[in-house]
Amino acid sequence: RVSENLSEAGAGRPLSSTMLLGFLLLGAVVFQAEGYFAEEKYPEESKMQSPTVVIAIIARNTAHSLPYYLGALERLDYPKDRISVWAATDHNSDNTTAILKEWLTVMQKFYHYVEWRPMDQPTSYAGELGPKHWTNIRYEYVMKLKQAALNFARKRWADYILYADSDNILTNPDTLNLLIAENKSVIAPMLDSQGAYSNYWCGITPQGYYRRTAEYFPTRHRHRLGCFPVPMVHSTMLLDLRKKGMKKLAFYPPHKEYSWPYDDIIVFAFSCRASEIQMYVCNKERYGYLNVPAKPQHTLEDDRLNFVHVHLESMIDGPPMYPSRFIHMFPKQRDLMGFDEIYLINLRRRPDRRDRMLFSLNELEIDVKVVDAVDGNALNSSDIKILGVDLLPGYYDPFSGRTLTKGEVGCFLSHYYIWKEMVDMQLDKALIFEDDVRFQANFKRRVLRLMEEVEQMQLDWDMIYLGRKQVNPGNEEPVENVRNLVVADYSYWTLSYAISLQGAQKLLNAEPISKMLPVDEFLPIMYDKHPNEEYKSHFPNRNLQAFSAHPLLVQPCHYAGDPQWVSDTEISTLWDNDSVRTDWRGSHKTLKGAAPPPEMLSAAYRDEL
Ligand SMILES: *[C@@H]1O[C@H](CO)[C@@H](O)[C@H](O)[C@H]1NC(C)=O
Ligand SMILES: *[C@@H]1O[C@H](CO)[C@@H](O)[C@H](O)[C@H]1NC(C)=O
Ligand SMILES: *[C@@H]1O[C@H](CO)[C@@H](O)[C@H](O)[C@H]1NC(C)=O
Ligand SMILES: *[C@@H]1O[C@H](CO)[C@@H](O)[C@H](O)[C@H]1NC(C)=O
Repeated sequence: RVSENLSEAGAGRPLSSTMLLGFLLLGAVVFQAEGYFAEEKYPEESKMQSPTVVIAIIARNTAHSLPYYLGALERLDYPKDRISVWAATDHNSDNTTAILKEWLTVMQKFYHYVEWRPMDQPTSYAGELGPKHWTNIRYEYVMKLKQAALNFARKRWADYILYADSDNILTNPDTLNLLIAENKSVIAPMLDSQGAYSNYWCGITPQGYYRRTAEYFPTRHRHRLGCFPVPMVHSTMLLDLRKKGMKKLAFYPPHKEYSWPYDDIIVFAFSCRASEIQMYVCNKERYGYLNVPAKPQHTLEDDRLNFVHVHLESMIDGPPMYPSRFIHMFPKQRDLMGFDEIYLINLRRRPDRRDRMLFSLNELEIDVKVVDAVDGNALNSSDIKILGVDLLPGYYDPFSGRTLTKGEVGCFLSHYYIWKEMVDMQLDKALIFEDDVRFQANFKRRVLRLMEEVEQMQLDWDMIYLGRKQVNPGNEEPVENVRNLVVADYSYWTLSYAISLQGAQKLLNAEPISKMLPVDEFLPIMYDKHPNEEYKSHFPNRNLQAFSAHPLLVQPCHYAGDPQWVSDTEISTLWDNDSVRTDWRGSHKTLKGAAPPPEMLSAAYRDEL
């Protein structure tokens, strides 16, 4: 058909001289009109195709991270017809095989080629302590799998092979292109985790073990940026198979002089060293995340909770993780952790914060009721007076010397209306979150355990901080027989706290609207730990029973002075004057290291400072 069409169109026949003249005249008119002469036009050379890549997927017991892992692979900005996928999975006690299969079945039509090597039985290795334990047999099996993927790529003359562990989420879709552009034999993108852990070492001992070095943290924290030669990269790495030196590299069998630990990553690092291949790690960008390795005795649930934590962190610092569109996800079973209600205070005009908190709480399987914060900016000084708000006589912000801002009035009212709802509805206990909260690892488990012990000890409590700023560095008295709970001393912030019906009633009885100060100053007055005697004198019943989780279970996402925080800064005006502008928070209290100025402190506190 193709050649027929071509001959119908006159291909191969010589042009007649009249036709030629016609073309030339026409050309002259057209090109002269545009002001230049073009003698002949040839099509440009077409662009090069992208190098060919094999992606090696070796997955075991990672059903919780696979949807995000595969979602990230499918979003890599790279032509799929230049990628072959080599996927193996074995010894699973979870749904890993079914998830991988579901994804490959859909995706195989996009990729150049898919090789699928599942092994359904057995579901564990002999002698292992748990599904995340690495025995020597498992190390050996993984080495063989990695070698099989390498052989596959070599046989098909692939230009590159990308290894990526199935809990390494390459959230940056440019990662593959960025690594290729570095033109190195073996290169890894530095991956972020929920802690100091990452996929490179800066030092190695003569016995082949990890060695601490001065370079590790500056690299990990991106205080120095670049692509650096290192003795070890692992978990996610790109190998350029076109380079001559790469021919000798092997994962299995180990090099004949190998005497280092029997571990696939160390065996490979040794092989690179023996072949005079330098490994590199790059931290110029954020490429993605990896989960910290589970301990040998960890269950799959422990590992899942670790992954939930790194997932929540990715939503704060980004780019966030998204699951594959081609994998079925079951909705989460959320609950109230034994509270009667859980409130999330959010300004309607901050949907970004609301969405992140709702995603995070959903991942944590916690139900929540969003309450629209009172937007101080939308109030003018006469609205505020109509609401019955009046300033606590003599109140000044300890840092700036100004009085209350509209933002602070809005914040106070938002908390106050929740206490009121609790009393109106006779809710026994509630949990309150503001919307710029970062969760500690295992947040839900720890809250459940704390509240269970509080219940068991029949502790008489009114409020329990889960997140706050401890103002005085001194030790707070631990609560007997309740682990990780202390009696609260003077604190700033109201990031998150549990409150009882009795506590809410006490706060309302104090009638704080008519003698307002910021809510995070009001609470310490009510539990009688505020250093300012004059403020306290306006509130005679200061018997709130206040405690705090220790260590704290939530932190602020960003501190004042962080680059991300500055962009969040909002402008507000004074509560009683619509023309005096201040920062929304206005106060240096939100600084990471903020302590109150000395004149605010009682003599005892001053001595400690
Ligand atoms: C396992 O994964 C498959 C594919 O996503 C899904 O259809 C199936 O319902 C899952 N089974 C369980 C027990 O989660
Ligand atoms: C990549 O590195 C090789 C040496 O390994 C070198 O020959 C080649 O010119 C480099 N390519 C580019 C684009 O820099
Ligand atoms: C304050 O806002 C209200 C509407 O919310 C408006 O009716 C009133 O005139 C405003 N007062 C001043 C002093 O701007
Ligand atoms: C508001 O503050 C400005 C600047 O300090 C002052 O000039 C003005 O008189 C104040 N207005 C009221 C209503 O207090």
